[in-house]
Amino acid sequence: MIVAGNWKMFAGPDPVALAERLAGVTGVEAIVCPPGVSLAHCVEAGLTTYAQNVHWENEGAYTGEISPTMLLGLGVAGSLVGHSERRQYFGETDAGVARRAKAALDAGLGVIACVGETQEERDAGDMETVLRIQVDAIRDTCGPHERLVLAYEPVWAIGTGRTATPEMAQEAHAFVKSLLDRPVLYGGSVKPDNADELMAQPDVDGALVGGASLDIESFAAICEAAARAKGPSDQTRGVAERES
Ligand code: 13P
Repeated sequence: MIVAGNWKMFAGPDPVALAERLAGVTGVEAIVCPPGVSLAHCVEAGLTTYAQNVHWENEGAYTGEISPTMLLGLGVAGSLVGHSERRQYFGETDAGVARRAKAALDAGLGVIACVGETQEERDAGDMETVLRIQVDAIRDTCGPHERLVLAYEPVWAIGTGRTATPEMAQEAHAFVKSLLDRPVLYGGSVKPDNADELMAQPDVDGALVGGASLDIESFAAICEAAARAKGPSDQTRGVAERES
């Protein structure tokens, strides 16, 4: 199970205090995705740190962008790509998202690639079509790479307090996995009080958390819910693997 906190363009919690709190949480891989100015602070605090976006070139005349090798140089472990806010406000395309993901993976970073439909698309019965187009672009460029994780974030559930039901999440996750067999995180108004039932779904492999990741206790509570949902078997497997 993976729980990633996307701080978006918020300062977020103190990285040292967050790292201390998360040190007591086992059975889940916790990741923070702070704004660019806080990446180094989070790495120094010992947090597994992802950027919120990454460019496809390692250097060049691309004002405002950060490259895969620059992130690696900071000790950053990976990056989000294709967040709906990047697609919606900054004109990012499926092809561009796939290029960013491929470059990051090639450089040795992990990638969480985000997909999801809008309310209009869901209402029109186009959810699967939209997901297929978004996932196919990533799959055709990256394949089922071992450091690639997907995040299903229905746009209508982001920052709205309207989370997908566990059944809706499960249905979408199973569909995404049928297209590209990689872990799929759920994102969209995940809170401590809905995390248990979402994380319990068989094809929900963790969470991508926005607002609730800005508070140390609520982020830790979601990490603990993820660990509770599927942690014991994973932990057992980890011990078995270490002993073999
Ligand atoms: P909220 O958890 O604030 O709905 O945001 C979800 C999100 O966009 C995470 O990337």
